Amino acid sequence: MQPFPSTYFTYKNNQLHCEVVPVAEIVKQAGSPTYIYSKKYFEDAYKEFDAAFHEIHHKIFYAAKSNFNLSVIKTFLQLGSGVDVNSEGELYRALKAGAKPENIILTSVGKTKREIELGLEHDVLMIKAESEEEVYLINDIAESMNKVARVAIRVNPDVDAKTHPYISTGLSENKFGVNSETALKIFRMQNQLKNIVFTGIDMHIGSQITSISPFVEAVEKLANLFLILKKEGIELKHFDVGGGIGIQYKDEKPFTIKEYAAAILPILKSLDCEIIFEPGRYLTANAGILVTEVLYTKKNQKKNFIVADAAMTDLLRPSIYGAYHHIQPVNFDETKGEIVADVVGPVCESGDFLAKKRSIQKSEHGDLLAVMSAGAYGMVMASNYNARRRPAEILVEGNSFKVIRERETFEHLLWDEENYL
Ligand code: LLP
Repeated sequence: MQPFPSTYFTYKNNQLHCEVVPVAEIVKQAGSPTYIYSKKYFEDAYKEFDAAFHEIHHKIFYAAKSNFNLSVIKTFLQLGSGVDVNSEGELYRALKAGAKPENIILTSVGKTKREIELGLEHDVLMIKAESEEEVYLINDIAESMNKVARVAIRVNPDVDAKTHPYISTGLSENKFGVNSETALKIFRMQNQLKNIVFTGIDMHIGSQITSISPFVEAVEKLANLFLILKKEGIELKHFDVGGGIGIQYKDEKPFTIKEYAAAILPILKSLDCEIIFEPGRYLTANAGILVTEVLYTKKNQKKNFIVADAAMTDLLRPSIYGAYHHIQPVNFDETKGEIVADVVGPVCESGDFLAKKRSIQKSEHGDLLAVMSAGAYGMVMASNYNARRRPAEILVEGNSFKVIRERETFEHLLWDEENYL
């Protein structure tokens, strides 16, 4: 078995550790399934990203959608990050985690009137508009609140990010943003829009992008618009590159942040404004694992199955994107040998799997498995289907660990339904 390459999740005496804490010890206290995150990973990834752009005026707005646990958001805030929020709920979380409104930017292709009002009420740094209609609505709402809204326009640069179609967002066939012509038209309405001041131009071309060229192409297109506007006297304060940087799940060889910076810095330097980045996955995916206990193993004519106590309800990515997550034993034991098996959960659907046809250490009832790279789009996409409680979340810091969210209780699942019986 090849262990997943990580310096944050390593084997010592054949026992998987997060930083210096044995994973099995955490599970003894927290139960299974459980998400475990390395605080040091969050910090190192953030610092690496930040340092790569030290030559230019820039700010990272952590994309909270990748992992919105309050303690995770707070970890990034303490490093100087802002937060990119995609809904009223994420705004609520960012504020609860301690973010100042001037360090929050509000995204979403379909903001409700209430979300726009909240953005203005809290006076967030900027609201990113994604259609002409939305711009008019923001202007009207701001007028009724006697405010001037700071707005960025999200441009769809029509580049192929060469990623999974569900997470590609920068092609003209995708619902996001407006095309370049519409963007110019909207910006040129600045004088008519009394309750809006355009402060930024924005893009986000997709997620889990593992080659640099789509970024370069898109940044060039956006920079071109930025400079046209500048010539016309529309000076924008922010140029927002979005997120989307790919990470290693299997054998991808994604570019490094240094390479990313080297490729786009020359373009960004020519703009002379604040550059905004919105990384999510890069900062969180390989900071986390989902630990699950083996309930049963079985075999039919065709296959071996490992039935684990984690399901699509805990980690949805394999089911909806066919995503690969490396799975390795918490106790490595070479003498056990390997089998090829599907690792499946207890949910009543054949789409409920964590891995298919996977070479994996032979396991038995009670063994613990670590599903790697689960720190991004893991817990945030978990659900209560089959009335399953969402897992606990644990943050490891050096030689200690703490619960940052308890496993849900059955009372949580009922919410107020009993009042209506
Ligand atoms: N900014 C915007 C406007 C976004 O929509 C996203 C992600 C990000 C930043 C952060 O992108 P990242 O750096 O994490 O790639 N559930 C999918 C991923 C969906 C990404 C949605 N938008 C998955 O599990 O792969």
